[in-house]
Amino acid sequence: MNNIKRRVGEGRSHSKIILIGEHSVVYGYPAIALPLKDVEVSCQIEKSDTPLLYISEDPLSTAVFSALEYLEISDYHLSLSVTSRIPEKRGMGSSAAVSIAAIRAVFDYFNYSLDKETLEMLVNQAEIIAHTNPSGLDAKTCLSNQAVKFIRNKGFELLDFQLDAYLVIADTGIHGHTKEAVQNVKNMNEHAFPILHQLGKLTEQFEKAFVDKSLHDMGKILSKAHIELQKLGVSIEKSDNLVKTALENGALGAKMSGGGLGGCVIALSPDMVSAQSLADKLMEKGAINTWIERI
Ligand code: MEV
Repeated sequence: MNNIKRRVGEGRSHSKIILIGEHSVVYGYPAIALPLKDVEVSCQIEKSDTPLLYISEDPLSTAVFSALEYLEISDYHLSLSVTSRIPEKRGMGSSAAVSIAAIRAVFDYFNYSLDKETLEMLVNQAEIIAHTNPSGLDAKTCLSNQAVKFIRNKGFELLDFQLDAYLVIADTGIHGHTKEAVQNVKNMNEHAFPILHQLGKLTEQFEKAFVDKSLHDMGKILSKAHIELQKLGVSIEKSDNLVKTALENGALGAKMSGGGLGGCVIALSPDMVSAQSLADKLMEKGAINTWIERI
């Protein structure tokens, strides 16, 4: 083992938002997601007098213990603190981001270098605890500085976004339930297949629209995807209402984002002024927080 040179190990990560392709990505269709580089989490690890307890259902604990096991370290006298600006269970990848920050902090504390592949492998182990059957999209996007087109078990592509448009993200304030939503879709069996196929097609069309920088097409496709997600039963009334508010107030398109049954909605705006007024309107209509991201 290397010598411990520092008394505090630190790790950071940022959050993410899915533009299109949630749920269908679990079944091998593509998804496109965006890192939210300003919405960050950090983790600090220090020596402690008491041993760190392993909590088997907790992704953060799983992440830390997987990292310790990987490094073959059995002295668990550590304490851990997490500072996060990422709201939990809102489809913003908080579980993946917290795991990334914690694993980085463990490696930093013990002064080991950490390559991207090992980090992603360890994060995905923790994500299995959080989501049961994660596609890997959350981890991949939280580890990326660029938008990602992701296909499960196939790979990913980094996408260059320079659209001069704005994405308004609005938090319903209601915890999402990704694990349950993914299970509900699974329980639909063959009834889900045409909807998942349609979501896959919409994702391909969306990619083409943003390569062509066609904001109007992108917006329309996002709104169509919301209708498909409603058919899958993963949206909730508050998300539907915020999507409706967005569309009635100048958004080019809007949809829920992430696992659903709560969480966030996203809306596409052509410029900063309309994005800001849309964000205000969404707050007025019940969103508890909004973020504006230039894309
Ligand atoms: C969760 O952020 C996105 C889902 O597609 C699940 C996954 O990709 O693992 C619902």
